[in-house]
Formats: sequence, structure tokens, C-alpha cells
Amino acid sequence: MKDKSVTPLFLSLAPLRGFTNALYRNLYSAHFQGIDAAISPFINTLSVKLVNRSHIKDILPENNHGMPVIPQIIGNDPAGFIQLATKFHDLGFDTVNWNLGCPAPMVANKRRGSGLLPHPELIKAFLDEIIPRIPTRLSIKTRIGREKKEEIFNLLPIFNQYPLAELIIHPRTGVQMYTGKVDLVTFEECLPLLKIPVAYNGDILDYDSFIKLKERFKTVSRWLIGRGVLSNPFLPGILRSGEENIPRPVERFKKFHDDLFEAYRTELSGQSHLVDKMKGYWQYFFRSFENGEALFKKIKKVNTLKKYEEIVGKFLAEDAKWRSGLG
Ligand SMILES: Cc1cc2nc3c(=O)[nH]c(=O)nc-3n(C[C@H](O)[C@H](O)[C@H](O)COP(=O)(O)O)c2cc1C
Repeated sequence: MKDKSVTPLFLSLAPLRGFTNALYRNLYSAHFQGIDAAISPFINTLSVKLVNRSHIKDILPENNHGMPVIPQIIGNDPAGFIQLATKFHDLGFDTVNWNLGCPAPMVANKRRGSGLLPHPELIKAFLDEIIPRIPTRLSIKTRIGREKKEEIFNLLPIFNQYPLAELIIHPRTGVQMYTGKVDLVTFEECLPLLKIPVAYNGDILDYDSFIKLKERFKTVSRWLIGRGVLSNPFLPGILRSGEENIPRPVERFKKFHDDLFEAYRTELSGQSHLVDKMKGYWQYFFRSFENGEALFKKIKKVNTLKKYEEIVGKFLAEDAKWRSGLG
């Protein structure tokens, strides 16, 4: 036990499209602990009048059995946003999240996601239009800018005007994508300027990185974690307890992996889809093993299900060494 502080922590699972879907979230809750809620990967606003259930399948309450979920919506069309938020309210959700951070050029070039950040006037007009008309509360997930970190300072006075449930800040610019350093100085400068609850997001990868952030940002109690949880699913439990030595981590990870694999085997049609999906997860999983890098090199070359099962099965049953200090 390293940390004896009693500050309440609210830990959310970050949305990672293609990874933290309902299938993953349900299995995560069945195997691990420590996450209070998840923001879903984004759903696009629709131009059609009726929301088709398949469009929101990942959010439907009957498909979610573990952690509470906040649906995330991406778009710049107020009518489409109001329509989806109303649908989610009818399904029992009390909060929806607006994605103001997606860096993908195809999204941002259409002034959606982080593409809206250089346009405070458009963000204000959007919020003025939707806030009085949505039956749910609104949380926002943002970056500090599209091109420049200073963009956030034009936005904070706007966000402060609304009763937002939460503002989640990932302190990178959109053009940085997911690389380069998180800008902790800019995040720190935002804190005294905000009148709404704030959450920090970005590069919480282990206990030590978290404690440094927690000590620096003493007023922050809400944290959103993505890749760190994908790599090490014990991480939220470790952040809460301060206890880094988890009993039988490989055996417990193997059970989770095997359930994930079987669930995708049922959901996906075709061997190559299943292999590709699992390869995607191993981009993150391998980091938790001392000998993970060599395994990941092998996995990248795999193109049949038989080979995947052979390589990963042997690794998890015989060779895997959990990285020390990671649980
Ligand atoms: C593959 C991938 C998919 C992502 N999908 C979404 C998404 O659907 N919505 C969103 O707001 N952020 C998305 N993100 C960003 C993450 O939610 C998070 O902000 C980012 O990864 C930084 O946090 P982390 O360092 O804890 O992972 C995605 C990131 C990655 C790498």
C-alpha cells in the first residue's frame, strides 16, 4: 500500500472505438473491478427521423450488464443531437457526452470532434440550441485545441455558461493525435478558470504516473483512462488500493482473454475478422508482459485462427511473465 489518502476517486473507462464496446465492457466488469462508469465510443448523429436500434446497439441497456454507460455523440447538427439525446433519455440515460476531441482528419475536416475547437462561435451556437432542448444532462470530452493549445482558453468561458455535468480534458491538440506529450501545464492553467466539474484524461498508464498527476492536480477527483486499462485491466483496482501486487495476474488475464476471444468468435463472422480484432487488442495487452514484445511480433504475422490459438494459448499457459510493478 503506497497511498493512504482518502480522496474519493471517480474512474471512468475512456471510449476507444473498436475496443471498449459493450462486449468488452461487460466482460471487463465480470473479471475486474475499479471502474465507476464508461463513456461509450462515439455514435454519429443521424439525418433520418427515426433512430434505428442497430445504430445504438452498443448502448442499449439490454446489451450492457456491467458498468453504467454514458452514451457519446459526435456531430455538429443540433437536431440530430437532440434526437439522439432524447432517444437515450427514453432508454433511461440521464447524461450524454458530446465528442469535441476526435482528431481523425475525416471527422475534424467536417468541423466535428476536434475540428470544432478553433470555432468557439459554432460551439456556442450549438450549445445554445441543444441545452434547452435535451432532456438529459450534457458532459463534454475535449482536447486543448485542434492546431494550437491556446484554443481551449477561448472555449472555457463558453463552457462555464452552461450547467455541464462534466468537462473531460485530454490535454493534447487534435493534430497531435495520440502521440507526443500531454500538456500538463495547459491543463493546470485551465483548472482555476473552470466553474464546472472537470476530469483529466491522458496517459495514465501505471500507479506512479497516476500518483504524480493526483499530487499535482489536487482539486481533480475524476479521471478517465483508456489505453492504460486496455494494457493492464487491473490498473483501476491498483489506482484505488495502491496495492500493486495482484495475485495470479497471468491466470486471471488468461480467463479474461479467453472469454473475450470466445465472445468475438460468436459475434464476428470469418476467421480473419476474429484474428484482426484480437491482434488489435494485443497492441495494448502485450505491454503488461515482460516478454510481451517478442510475442506481439509473432502475433502481428499470424493470419490464421489456428496459429493465433497456438501462439497465444502457449504464451498464456506457459511463457507469460507479468511485468513487475504492474500487478
Ligand atoms: C483506438 C482509439 C479509439 C478512440 N475512440 C474514441 C472515441 O470513440 N471517442 C472519444 O472521445 N475518444 C476516443 N479515443 C480517445 C480516448 O478516449 C482517450 O481520450 C485517449 O486515448 C487518451 O487517453 P488514454 O491515454 O487514457 O488512452 C480513442 C483513442 C484510441 C487510441
